[in-house]
Amino acid sequence: MAESRILIVDFGGQYNQLIARRVRECGVYSEIHNYDEVDAASVRAFSPDGIIFTGGPQSAYGEGAPSIDDGIFSLGIPVLGICYGAQLMAYRLGGSIDSAPTSEYGRTEVTIDDKGGILAAADDVNTCWMSHTDYISCPPEGFVITAHTDDCPVAGMEDRKRGFYAVQFHPEVNHTEHGAEFIRSFVLDVCGCSQDWQMDSFAETQIQAVREKVGDGRVLLGLSGGVDSSVVAALLARAVGPQLTCVFVDHGLLRKNEADEVSEVFGSGKLFDLNFIRVDAADRFYSKLAGVTEPESKRKIIGEEFIRVFEETAKKIGRVDFLAQGTIYPDIIESGLGKSAVIKSHHNVGGLPDYVDFREIIEPLRMLFKDEVRQLGRELGLPEYLVSRQPFPGPGLGIRIIGEVTAEKVRIVQDADAIYREEIARAGLAGSISQYYAALTNMQTVGVMGDFRTYDHAVALRAVITSDFMTAEAAHLPWEVLDRVMTRIVNEVDHVNRVFYDLTSKPPGTVELE
Ligand code: XMP
Repeated sequence: MAESRILIVDFGGQYNQLIARRVRECGVYSEIHNYDEVDAASVRAFSPDGIIFTGGPQSAYGEGAPSIDDGIFSLGIPVLGICYGAQLMAYRLGGSIDSAPTSEYGRTEVTIDDKGGILAAADDVNTCWMSHTDYISCPPEGFVITAHTDDCPVAGMEDRKRGFYAVQFHPEVNHTEHGAEFIRSFVLDVCGCSQDWQMDSFAETQIQAVREKVGDGRVLLGLSGGVDSSVVAALLARAVGPQLTCVFVDHGLLRKNEADEVSEVFGSGKLFDLNFIRVDAADRFYSKLAGVTEPESKRKIIGEEFIRVFEETAKKIGRVDFLAQGTIYPDIIESGLGKSAVIKSHHNVGGLPDYVDFREIIEPLRMLFKDEVRQLGRELGLPEYLVSRQPFPGPGLGIRIIGEVTAEKVRIVQDADAIYREEIARAGLAGSISQYYAALTNMQTVGVMGDFRTYDHAVALRAVITSDFMTAEAAHLPWEVLDRVMTRIVNEVDHVNRVFYDLTSKPPGTVELE
């Protein structure tokens, strides 16, 4: 495990995960802990090299506002306060906080007054991302003001002797120029962290830890072929290969060739030594879905059937000791910090643990962000197409075929989607689009092909840009690319005579059509 570590104290800010990522991008391990679980004793136990207070929505002086044990300031550990965290630091150490006469939101020109601390990389006037209605009107004793704006007298303050640093703006967001360098300076120069958070050492220590925990026990993993469960499979295979059984349910709603690709990687024995069970259950799912058109009913049927198939297969295996899950850090953070292992219903479509006889859960990725999971996958030798895979919903193509699902419609949407993905890759756009896919609308339209009238299906193309999938906008795909995709789909996919491009943002739309 990494030696150096930064503790991030969460006061409810919206960019907290970004702070943790920025720290890890410096090669330094970080964890986010809720403010009400942090006091001097817990900090001493965690033994961080530095502490970062995040932003938050409240007023530091407001009744019931999140606060912090003052004992933390006496531990001799450097502290960086960001936004609310900066105000809280000022407030607790004897400065003053007031409601700002003018709030600042978004890009703001910040004048840098002192580059002797963490702002060394700043421009003299540095564009920063602000989001605050209170401000520090007077810093505590011992602090110098390092930055200001027209409306904010203390946009930065530092007490280098005691190791206290604060910025009113958000260095963690990309809109703040040199922001990552400010964080880097705090983490490396001020806290003196060594850059020992690397994926190869993480892989090694995790493999070792899993071996110790599992002993000669048996592990079961529901493998979906998505990035997270694939990386868990690879890691467990390296750790306890022959004791691991992966159950891969092909519900007939996967992308073209996906079931074979996953089977080739995990089931062929070429890359990993593990027990692989592939269940071809397409017909079961199609017959359950026959005649069903309502989206939530479809989701429910797919989820329930998935569990049933998994359960039946698991029963054949008998009792297992451990159930492995691909839970990752954002799942843990989003479902509430400090709570015990949460099983996200999205994972492997449904609450599997209730249905399987096992002793304990193992979640080797629970402290990793998605990009770190991908990095780990590469480290473990997974092929790039698996590792860089875009998100794919558990119910699969079932929610990308509007209305009733049939085998024929699955074939159409698989072929159209494969062409779309191929052309996006060929145009070099794959890395810049968050998610893209072809869907099948439930309409037929009139067209003409080779002098004949056609009355066939219409395909919809979707491509979105998003950082968190909570909001998204349609990608501005080059017309030539769309044109080529359209031409290929109508020419190569039987029974499609029309192609639409979905321009809808989220909200009001969602990423998936159902
Ligand atoms: P929506 O459609 O809700 O999608 O805007 C946001 C993100 O979530 C994915 N998604 C799912 N993932 N099970 C999953 O594992 C699901 O039931 C599910 N529904 C949507 C979607 O692909 C997008 O990335």
